Amino acid sequence: PMAKLTLDPAFEVGPVERRLFGSFVEHMGRCVYTGVFEPGHPEADADGLRRDVIELTREMGVTAVRYPGGNFVSNYEWEDGVGPAAERPTRLDLAWRQIETNAFGLGEFMAWLREVDAEPVMAVNLGTRGVRAARDLVEYANYPGGTRWSDLRIKHGMREPYGIKVWCLGNEMDGPWQIGGKTAEEYGRLAFETAKAMRRVDPDIELVACGSSNTRISTYGSWEATVLEHCYDQVDYISAHNYYDAVTGDRASYLASAVEMEQQIQDVIATADHVAAKLRSRKRLKVSFDEWNVWSYTKFGGESGLDWEHAPRLIEEDYDVAGAAVVGSLLITLLNHADRVGIACQAQLANVIAPIRTEPGGPAWRQTIFHPFALTAANARGRVMRAQVTAPSMPTERFGEVPVLTATATIEDDQLAVFAVNRGDRPLPLEIDLRGLQNPTEISHITVADEDTAARNTEHDPRRVEPRALQGATIDGNRITAVLPPISFNVLKAT
Ligand code: AHR
Repeated sequence: PMAKLTLDPAFEVGPVERRLFGSFVEHMGRCVYTGVFEPGHPEADADGLRRDVIELTREMGVTAVRYPGGNFVSNYEWEDGVGPAAERPTRLDLAWRQIETNAFGLGEFMAWLREVDAEPVMAVNLGTRGVRAARDLVEYANYPGGTRWSDLRIKHGMREPYGIKVWCLGNEMDGPWQIGGKTAEEYGRLAFETAKAMRRVDPDIELVACGSSNTRISTYGSWEATVLEHCYDQVDYISAHNYYDAVTGDRASYLASAVEMEQQIQDVIATADHVAAKLRSRKRLKVSFDEWNVWSYTKFGGESGLDWEHAPRLIEEDYDVAGAAVVGSLLITLLNHADRVGIACQAQLANVIAPIRTEPGGPAWRQTIFHPFALTAANARGRVMRAQVTAPSMPTERFGEVPVLTATATIEDDQLAVFAVNRGDRPLPLEIDLRGLQNPTEISHITVADEDTAARNTEHDPRRVEPRALQGATIDGNRITAVLPPISFNVLKAT
């Protein structure tokens, strides 16, 4: 059986928002320490930033980076991480029971971001802190000078304001695990008041309210509604988080994880729009899907088992070829909702559930999931087209019958890029019907696939899984044909 994709540039979802290719750097495990930052490493620059990781992050095409957490932010005092390194206090991080030296902080992060050429998505602590610390941080970061906090930034060597645009009002405030967690009423009020103060300091910022931590938590749906009833007018985004587990349940459901992401995006938009209706508001929020990835979280024993280490090996997930296909399908889903999803951050960047792995003092390498991200960030340009898919289906325990093909397509100046995942375990012949497009004449096909779908990249075999060019795709007038390998992520480009 064959799959069919019909594309017509007249039917558009929206522009390709560059912020969909975001990532996340949390002070967790070895994401910061011995991940992006390792003074003394042979690849480290004068600031201790690992050049090998900077190069890989640039190659991945990361456009925005959320920081400094995550659960970490809910007990974090941002002032600890600025100013002379020798004067910074060592603290207990309660989220992950780590020793935090504060050798890396806002200034180091912003210096690193300049190197990778991405924008910050900055989270404030609404767990153990509140309005005051958040407004002080906006003043430190964004106010030009002549006031207490802006002058402190200047004293720390940064004359120009950082101009941080996007701010997250806390992190996963619905989670019982969150230090200083809140009820929806408590958080909604706090988010409103914090947003008000932050905007007084800098009216140009964009604010993200915390949505639910996942779709399994009992308050899912009602949390968003209550929170937004309090702070709708003050925010621009509502966040969504989710991780897709490879070890629980049937494999077909895992391969179809994007169905769950799709449903969640629709749920969160519907809830936000419902609040808009109640408030008679014409304003529409966007979703910031600011934590997503494949993560076998059911294998994680929880933070209570962790033991006050600095930069411990924490959730260093190894990804295989199937994981790359799932990550590709999640990116496709985000693009297919480009009209309402404005920010997305894969969690996390280095070592912790990450596309980039490093060894302390040793090499850095690309995990399998690096490749679909890099290929999509590099090739998704211009506008997203509505992808009409007809495909054979496969049975899944969680979602019933699911099409084996998921796809999206973008177009910019007659440059067409199709992103397609074959979730099935057989080769999938695909026919693309290009309506209303100038007849392209050249076609290329790149795939991330392997006969062994459990194949991984390791320190000693870092290039085991890489994108490969496939021959055999054809183009004839407005009809493209190709065969997608079993469990594969694919990019077809036509000009
Ligand atoms: O990314 C790992 C953790 O997952 C984050 O700290 C938290 O926000 C989420 O629960």
